[in-house]
Amino acid sequence: MLTKIQNIAVIGAGTMGIGIAEVAASCNQQVKVYDLNNAFANQAKQTMSKRLESRVQRGKITAEFRQKILDNIEIISDLPKLSDSDLVIEAIVENLEIKQKLFTQLQFICNENTLFASNTSSISITSIASVLQQPENMIGLHFFNPAPVMKLVEVVAGLRSSKKSLDLGLQLCVFWNKTGVLAQSSPGFIVNRVARPFYGEAMKMLQEQVAKPEGMDAIMTSAGFRMGPFTLMDLIGIDINLSVSKTVFASMYNDARYRPSLIQEEMVAANLLGKKTGQGFYRYNGEEKPQVNYQSPQQAAKSISFNSECTLFDAFKKQLSNLDDIIVTQHQGGVAMQIHDCAIELSNGQTCKERLKTTQQNHLAQIDLMLDYENCPIIHLSFDKNCPEATQNHVIGVFQLLGKQVVIGKDKPALIAMRTVCLLINEAADAIENGVCNENDVDLAMQKGVNYPIGLIAWAHKIGIARVVETLDNLHHWFGDDRYRVSPWLRGRV
Ligand SMILES: NC(=O)c1ccc[n+]([C@@H]2O[C@H](COP(=O)([O-])OP(=O)(O)OC[C@H]3O[C@@H](n4cnc5c(N)ncnc54)[C@H](O)[C@@H]3O)[C@@H](O)[C@H]2O)c1
Repeated sequence: MLTKIQNIAVIGAGTMGIGIAEVAASCNQQVKVYDLNNAFANQAKQTMSKRLESRVQRGKITAEFRQKILDNIEIISDLPKLSDSDLVIEAIVENLEIKQKLFTQLQFICNENTLFASNTSSISITSIASVLQQPENMIGLHFFNPAPVMKLVEVVAGLRSSKKSLDLGLQLCVFWNKTGVLAQSSPGFIVNRVARPFYGEAMKMLQEQVAKPEGMDAIMTSAGFRMGPFTLMDLIGIDINLSVSKTVFASMYNDARYRPSLIQEEMVAANLLGKKTGQGFYRYNGEEKPQVNYQSPQQAAKSISFNSECTLFDAFKKQLSNLDDIIVTQHQGGVAMQIHDCAIELSNGQTCKERLKTTQQNHLAQIDLMLDYENCPIIHLSFDKNCPEATQNHVIGVFQLLGKQVVIGKDKPALIAMRTVCLLINEAADAIENGVCNENDVDLAMQKGVNYPIGLIAWAHKIGIARVVETLDNLHHWFGDDRYRVSPWLRGRV
């Protein structure tokens, strides 16, 4: 069946359309590109040609391959020239009526075997397909920007898409050397839905004055993310991010989980849209980013004890055991780590003050989540406010002994990375619970679509699902906000 897909039509020669044309042309398919603005489409091909030339110069591709890609792409000026298309991918303006109008025309130009696909990021595939006499022939093929580079394609099933069409979509992804994941047509599909808390919770914490953008970004990158949420939002554009947030929120019937941030609304009103306007969460006028407030060097404690049954902090145990400056001992049960009379535990959605009420400990430090404690550059801690300064300094010194920078956060419920990752996991779990995608695909999608360091469900297992649920329950209790309600999928797996 796939061998029959040779003639591809791409409608729209914008950022996505021309990228998708390059993907298919690189795999030796014949691509016709149509745009309302023919001059713009020719210009887009020119720009692609220059970009490919620079790849030739850098030795990434051969001059012959570049020429082949260009020869495989034809810019056309009339829709009827697409009559022999085996596959049509639409990447035009994000507007339901305009997309429906286009497909209404295309179904009479193409034949009954043509596979129709939309690259929409937020519109229901079911709604677009509703204008077709054969809605079973329509699927979503949601590429990520830049299409030639990003590996992920969400293959989106409308309510009436046939299995044959979806299978063909998935086979095409393999042919294009992409990772195809199957998603049901639903707001945000997989990635744009599951990633909402990465931005939303960062802004909520900013509003609660938990920390400054530069501090949160540093902690999130140390935790394992390629870019912090504020740097990423500045890059995406605050207006674009707000518009996706609003679309998902409205499509989910105003579920508190997707509530957009007032901060973002204000920034858009002030035209502080990020890098493109010279200022967003940061300034882009050549000034350095503000410095993160790291702790000055402190004398480490002489000894530390680890819970022999808790493996979360094995990396510290191993590294500290190799040092002469500190004695490492073990205890059975109880707290994860202990220095003097201060317990050190992974953040659990409670403030230190709250958590101390239910323990026998004198003092408590909570440590933020990091994917790789051995190699992360920053350790983020919070202390109960009565913890003596000398004890705090001894704890800080221990992590500095390991070459880490230490950031001390306010005693808020759940530290920054733990709070964000638990909410991301919750969202991934709910997408599975609601049949949007399966466990394997949600993990693949977030790694290939937005470069997460590990799949969220895999991360949940690493942290322990019970700990994730405990953290979310504590946040839910503290804030009384439905935003933190636990996904039944997670609760059922404790
Ligand atoms: N930009 C992204 O990061 C991104 C990522 C994934 C999906 N998408 C989706 O891809 C689609 C295109 O986005 P984009 O960023 O490439 O947009 P764009 O504005 O860069 O390009 C859209 C192109 O479509 C053309 N066009 C508009 N109406 C048309 C019509 N009726 N017939 C033919 N051509 C028409 C425009 O002239 C323009 O060249 C949207 O549905 C968007 O949601 C965008």
